[in-house]
This record gives sequence, structure tokens and C-alpha cells, in this order.
Amino acid sequence: MTLPTLGTERLLLRPFVESDAAAVERLAGAREVADTTLHIPHPYPAGGGAWWIGTHASAWEEGAGLTLAIVAREAPDALLGTMGISIVREHARGELGYWIGAHAWGRGYATEAARAMTAYAFDTLRLHRVQARHFTRNPASGRVMQKLGMRLEGVHREAYLRWERFEDVAVYGILAAEWPPTA
Ligand SMILES: CC(C)(COP(=O)(O)OP(=O)(O)OC[C@H]1O[C@@H](n2cnc3c(N)ncnc32)[C@H](O)[C@@H]1OP(=O)(O)O)[C@@H](O)C(=O)NCCC(=O)NCCS
Repeated sequence: MTLPTLGTERLLLRPFVESDAAAVERLAGAREVADTTLHIPHPYPAGGGAWWIGTHASAWEEGAGLTLAIVAREAPDALLGTMGISIVREHARGELGYWIGAHAWGRGYATEAARAMTAYAFDTLRLHRVQARHFTRNPASGRVMQKLGMRLEGVHREAYLRWERFEDVAVYGILAAEWPPTA
């Protein structure tokens, strides 16, 4: 089952290919990107990018999630970041996870890509709820969630241990009935 490609005004969200592996290691492995994520290793191990890309097809086939590369329409080979959704079918629920290479922050790419993935989750995957979480010390990601129309549902205090520090995690969500949000 081929992974889908989603389009936005400026971006394509397309399946990763093997030749993206070096850019994954360089961009996601940068300390400022890895630091506010739960799982990205730092330093990123050599070969880790190819291994990670190799997990996407089976996750999609199993219905466990969809992970897509974010690229500009006019430069589809140059990786900008990643937009993913992990899916819990039993509860018709998805959770967004994303990062943008630091060179491309502040241009609205995360928001544009998250909107496309959320629309796909509701309209095509027929999920009931899409949620996202961020460390409270990462307000930029919280802004992305707010701009998506998600609602802040609470903060899990010191719920995750990342790099020897307990992190407060803000939980945002939006329901199918609330999508698309009005203004
Ligand atoms: C979080 C991240 C994905 C945002 O990507 P991006 O493409 O720069 O996001 P956007 O441009 O769509 O939106 C960012 C918003 O945050 C705002 N912002 C940036 N820094 C901020 C800060 N320190 N405090 C408050 N808001 C901030 C921007 O102004 C913008 O909001 P606006 O449009 O209302 O002005 C990116 O910084 C990143 O990849 N960080 C590292 C990995 C990560 O944290 N991933 C998410 C894990 S939950």
C-alpha cells in the first residue's frame, strides 16, 4: 500500500525516500530540533535515518501511522521537515508529531503541513479525534496547535523524562465535529 502525498499551497507532504536519509540525520539531529522532541536522538547515529525511513511503509500498512516528508513544491528533493500522525484505530484517534529544520523555522511550514495532515485524518482516515502534545518550554509548537484550531486540554506535569530533565507536557486536541475550525 503506497503512502499518500498531500499538497498545500506551498508544500508537498510526500513519502520519504532513501536519499532523504542524510538530510534527516543532519536536520533532525541538530540539537535545537532534537531537544524539544520526545524521541529524536542527539547526536543522530549514522545509518539511523535510513533505518527510520524503512519503518514507514510497515507502519502505514498496519494502520499504525503515517509519516511524510515536508518539502517545498518547487524543490521536492530538499527536505524541510517531517509531519507524522500515529494512529490508535481502536479509539479512532491520531496524534501529530512534527519537526522543521531550524533553517526553515518561522515561515508557517509546520502549521501548513499540520493542517493538511489533520484534514487528511478527519476527511480520509475518518478519525474522531486528533491530538498533539508539546513540552511547555516549547511555545512555538503550542502556537502551531492553536493555529490549527486545537484546544488546550491540560498539562501533564513532569510526565516525561528527557535528557535527565522532567518535562511538563501540554495536551491539545480537536474533534471531527470541530473540523474545519471557523476563523
Ligand atoms: C515547533 C516547530 C515545528 C515550529 O515550526 P515552524 O515551521 O517554525 O512553525 P510555524 O512557522 O508554522 O509557527 C510557529 C509559531 O510559533 C511562534 N513562535 C516561535 N517562537 C516562539 C516563542 N518562543 N514563543 C511563542 N511563540 C513562538 C511563531 O511566531 C509562530 O506563530 P505566529 O504565526 O502566530 O507568529 C519547530 O520550531 C521545530 O521543529 N522545533 C523543534 C522540534 C519540535 O519541537 N517539534 C515539535 C515537538 S511537539
